[in-house]
Amino acid sequence: MTDHADLTALRERIQRIPGLDAAALEAEQIALLGRKSGAITELLRRLPSLSPDERRAFGAVVNELKVSATALLDARREELNAVRRRGGEAPDLTMPGRHRWTGAEHPVTRVTDEILGIFRELGFAIVIGPEVETEWYNFLALNFPPDHPAMDLHDTIYLDALPVREEQGVGRLLLRTHTSPVQIRTMVTSTPPIRAVMPGWVYRNDPFDASHAPAFSQIEGLAVDEGISFVDLKATLVHFARRFFSADTKVRFRPSYFPFTEPSAEMDVGCRICGGVGCPTSKGTGWSEILGCGMVHPHVLQAGGVDPERYTGFAFGMGPHRVTMQRHGVPDIRVLYEGDMRFLEQFTP
Ligand code: PHE
Repeated sequence: MTDHADLTALRERIQRIPGLDAAALEAEQIALLGRKSGAITELLRRLPSLSPDERRAFGAVVNELKVSATALLDARREELNAVRRRGGEAPDLTMPGRHRWTGAEHPVTRVTDEILGIFRELGFAIVIGPEVETEWYNFLALNFPPDHPAMDLHDTIYLDALPVREEQGVGRLLLRTHTSPVQIRTMVTSTPPIRAVMPGWVYRNDPFDASHAPAFSQIEGLAVDEGISFVDLKATLVHFARRFFSADTKVRFRPSYFPFTEPSAEMDVGCRICGGVGCPTSKGTGWSEILGCGMVHPHVLQAGGVDPERYTGFAFGMGPHRVTMQRHGVPDIRVLYEGDMRFLEQFTP
């Protein structure tokens, strides 16, 4: 007759089933329920020799052992199979949770959309032009003399591998160095009045440093109509600066030179990184340049098929990367390219 201690030991063995590995599990299956000499099988085999009363009591106990052993063996087998299918150990539920990044638009994308939105309110349409341009659109139609230093390999990335199409009078192919060629494309394909903003990437053979990048974005602006003057240019751009930054933003225009505008100017805003006191980003002046602008040169109107006797226009080109640096007080342009989530996550809504 099996004594109480044997049954207790058997129960404990059954309770240890969930901790067994695959090999131990198969051994235990045979040791407990094997048809020849399983421990529980042996107990069941004894039942017929017991008296009816003993059989009823003992039978219930042994049957309960058989049912729980079978259930635990099956469950553990299924668990081990699942781990094998996953190709690894069961998950450790005590591990610290993994942080999920919240996706968001890049700060330069948001600033670009905001700038375009302000000009849309003023009636400007959004126009897109190609990043691969010809010398004609990028330089010659914009009144650059054919030997202008900007056309030098030093500043411009030419696409020598692509076919040269000199015979069509368009010059070499290049990566546009500014968005101004889209001014020409817009004039060629539409008639005044024109009001357009033209966002996109531009490329220059520049080293990457705190204030330069070999690829950056620009937003070109163009307004062509009868009677447009420098007053319109100034009013539009001052409105933009106050609307974008704040109503009390300080703005100044400095005379400048671009082949495609006459007169030309650059617009600065009071530097928001140093508050106008002077810092490396504002080159010690307390002012930060955010755009170039001017009245469209008559040669450029002509190249775009617009009659310079009848129409005048203004144009501007600004850098959303620069504007983003001013908006968010970012002193080094490179962080806008690195995709470091510790920086970018600050801009998630
Ligand atoms: N294309 C000029 C640049 O890249 C900016 C500009 C655009 C200036 C339009 C005047 C008018 O620097």
